[in-house]
Amino acid sequence: MNTVIQLLYLLTAVFFMLGVMRLRSPATARSGNQLAALGMAIALAATLWANHRFAGGALIALAALLGLVVGSAAALKVRMTAMPQMVALFNGMGGGAAALVAAGDWVARGPGGAAGAIAALFTVLVGSVSFSGSLIAFLKLQEWIQGRPIVYPGQKAVSLLLLLVDLAAGVALAAGNLGQGPTPMGLYSLLALLLGIQVVLPIGGADMPVVISLLNAMTGLAAAASGFLLQNQVLIIAGALVGASGTILTQQMSRAMNRPLSNILFGAFGQLRTEGGQAVEGTVQSATVEDVATLLAYARRVIIVPGYGLAVARAQQEVRQLMDKLLQRNVDVRFAIHPVAGRMPGHMNVLLAEADVPYDRLYEMEVINPEFAQTDVALVIGANDVTNPAARTQPSSPLYGMPILNVDQAAHIVVLKRSMNPGFAGVDNPLYLNPKTQMLFGDAKASLTQLLKALDEV
Ligand code: TAP
Repeated sequence: MNTVIQLLYLLTAVFFMLGVMRLRSPATARSGNQLAALGMAIALAATLWANHRFAGGALIALAALLGLVVGSAAALKVRMTAMPQMVALFNGMGGGAAALVAAGDWVARGPGGAAGAIAALFTVLVGSVSFSGSLIAFLKLQEWIQGRPIVYPGQKAVSLLLLLVDLAAGVALAAGNLGQGPTPMGLYSLLALLLGIQVVLPIGGADMPVVISLLNAMTGLAAAASGFLLQNQVLIIAGALVGASGTILTQQMSRAMNRPLSNILFGAFGQLRTEGGQAVEGTVQSATVEDVATLLAYARRVIIVPGYGLAVARAQQEVRQLMDKLLQRNVDVRFAIHPVAGRMPGHMNVLLAEADVPYDRLYEMEVINPEFAQTDVALVIGANDVTNPAARTQPSSPLYGMPILNVDQAAHIVVLKRSMNPGFAGVDNPLYLNPKTQMLFGDAKASLTQLLKALDEV
């Protein structure tokens, strides 16, 4: 039986890896997700079988059923803009589960040698930090607690002290100085839980996607360490995959925002509002729906730049209809996708895929940027920071150095947003004062609906 289990685990690992590989492109991401889910189902079945839990496993069946119902209902119900907090919650559960398994194992069987003790203590520490940190990230994103950084004097010193005390407690636990029962392990876990809360509280709600990705990597590491503890290969492989992909994603996100991770973790960035950029002077030109319809109807090339506001307005179907109408008029329509447009990795890809915008119309920033100079109209829909030219020219701007979409090189620029309010980074956008720019103020869905009507009359 052992060989069969090992073979099933191997199959699971292959499914996980194929799944991750297929997540690299929007065209294959859906099947990648399904493959990974299938891998997980096989891993669960094999583990239960290996542990002879099929017989008399009513409690396990009940737990699985509960998980299935809650997980599916949450996934079906969640709005696209609320996806980051759902990921936070699911990630926290992973970290918490790994910590519980390791703590339970410790209480039941003791440390079991130096390697076992290190694996167990590491799992409990990292898994608990990930659990409580993810819950705070969830609460911030859900706006159940204030999203702004929650700071107090000496906060970093308190975090450092908590970490040191918890590490010392871990050493004492391993040496057997604190006894064996559940209380010392409970205290060790409690300190780690406090540390997770303490580390995430001072980070602004808007930076949470990067933090969640980091916590995700930590959950992966905790799971891998618990795999060592339980001598379960598939847990080690799955954990390592999550740890590695979470780390790469965290790096990519901070690079695309041109902010070192240390700045995100310790910089309290979400506090910034409308400062940091030089005052920009000029006049804002407001356009009517009819102006924009005429401009688009007679253009040869249009690049649509979607941003967070498109997700907020849930106007992806209208954007697709606009694309269809323009294509019927033989206008060349492309979409420019900035790597951190929106609030989570791949946000715009998922949004546009939902409206069946063909993947071959979506262009990554490096590919599309040289095209703006030969484009008649750049149509910016609910995007702000990712188009802000201050990122190129104003060293005092918090966006300085972030690669942006070269929207300002198009012959005409049309921006759909509700007001002159800034976006995520809280800084003004000189693009709106560019003489080539026309602002179409209003909710993106309402503006696009009117635009679709107006296009029929041109
Ligand atoms: P933002 O700079 O946040 O701008 C979004 C704009 O959408 C706002 O200026 C807002 O202006 C407008 N908007 C909101 N609701 C709207 C509606 N219903 N209709 C029309 N417009 C609406 O978004 P972006 O350009 O996509 O940039 C993303 C930002 O998030 C970057 O700074 C990035 O670093 C950051 N970030 C991204 C990620 C990932 S992984 N994507 C993770 C963390 C942080 P009005 O209020 O005037 O309408």
